[in-house]
Amino acid sequence: MTEPVLDVHLGPEDAAHALRADVRAGLTAEPKWLSPKWFYDAAGSALFEDITRLPEYYPTRAEREVLAERAAEIAATTDAGSLVELGSGSSEKTRLLLSALREHGTLTQFVPQDVSVSALTEAAHAIMADYPGLQVHGVVGDFTQHLGLLPGEPPRVVAFLGGTIGNLIPEEREKFLRTVRDVLEPGEWLLLGTDLVKDRETLVRAYDDAQGVTAAFNRNVLNVLNRELHADFDVAAFEHVALWNPEREWIEMRLRATRAMTVRIADLGLTVEFAEGEELRTEVSAKFRQEGVRQELEDAGFALRRWWTDAEDRFAVSLAQAE
Ligand code: SAH
Ligand code: AVI
Repeated sequence: MTEPVLDVHLGPEDAAHALRADVRAGLTAEPKWLSPKWFYDAAGSALFEDITRLPEYYPTRAEREVLAERAAEIAATTDAGSLVELGSGSSEKTRLLLSALREHGTLTQFVPQDVSVSALTEAAHAIMADYPGLQVHGVVGDFTQHLGLLPGEPPRVVAFLGGTIGNLIPEEREKFLRTVRDVLEPGEWLLLGTDLVKDRETLVRAYDDAQGVTAAFNRNVLNVLNRELHADFDVAAFEHVALWNPEREWIEMRLRATRAMTVRIADLGLTVEFAEGEELRTEVSAKFRQEGVRQELEDAGFALRRWWTDAEDRFAVSLAQAE
């Protein structure tokens, strides 16, 4: 078997530089925060895959249901020559699209992009093996920074699945959508997965599961800092917190210090104090409504052409066209 092509737009040096800048900004801010993109080392990517199989974590199953039902329609509507997937992870659900597009006869190229080298490499190899003749061109990169460099045969469909757009804060989201629009030619497509606003209990359970997998995923970001920046976080001394913020309509994941701590981040020459009970924000996961998605897409220069949800209206997949 030939190897998938792998471009590296975010090499170890750039990633280390970006991590240092982010951690310094976040841990010297009040309140403290960390960017969710640092969850996804090999252990974090594996923990995310475990999350997708939890009984409480409905988004993956709900989105898969929509894609299974609509993949043929997506292929017929878009005639995609290439499928570019941002934050592609394992690309498991994406196989539904790849199969439908192959069947339709237009697809020649698949371009998965992710910050996680482990997830991307594994997925690119598996897809090459299972889709003979498909060009697989993986890109290690940050979807908030490296979109201009993505390859792809027109017409392109850019897929951004899983509800990962909800992990961007609103300003990042606006900039991200405008950048995707600028990269596309008029008539090309964005396929966007968004988790929907629902009752607090269902949402909080999805982010605070009984087996503690989400708690392990959340704490893993401190393992990343300990390893990559020679920090000395006592990871077990931080408690997982998942809160629904009804004003912002997002879940917030935090890590709460269970005692007062002084943490040394050797590579930054930085010492950070945590008071007992102090919380560090590690992720927001925004939930959406149809009108909000339509408006954000329009503001970025897209027209919403299709809006599909699962049978229980938990998760939506939108197909939008660059104008
Ligand atoms: N799309 C998959 C994976 C979602 S998990 C699904 O629907 O199941 C989020 C993925 O986005 C992870 O693989 C993570 O490594 C990647 N990711 C997070 N922040 C990123 C960034 N800034 N740039 C590129 N990839 C990112
Ligand atoms: C990747 N992203 C859409 C997930 C989410 O649901 O916001 C990440 C996650 N965080 C906790 N559980 C899953």
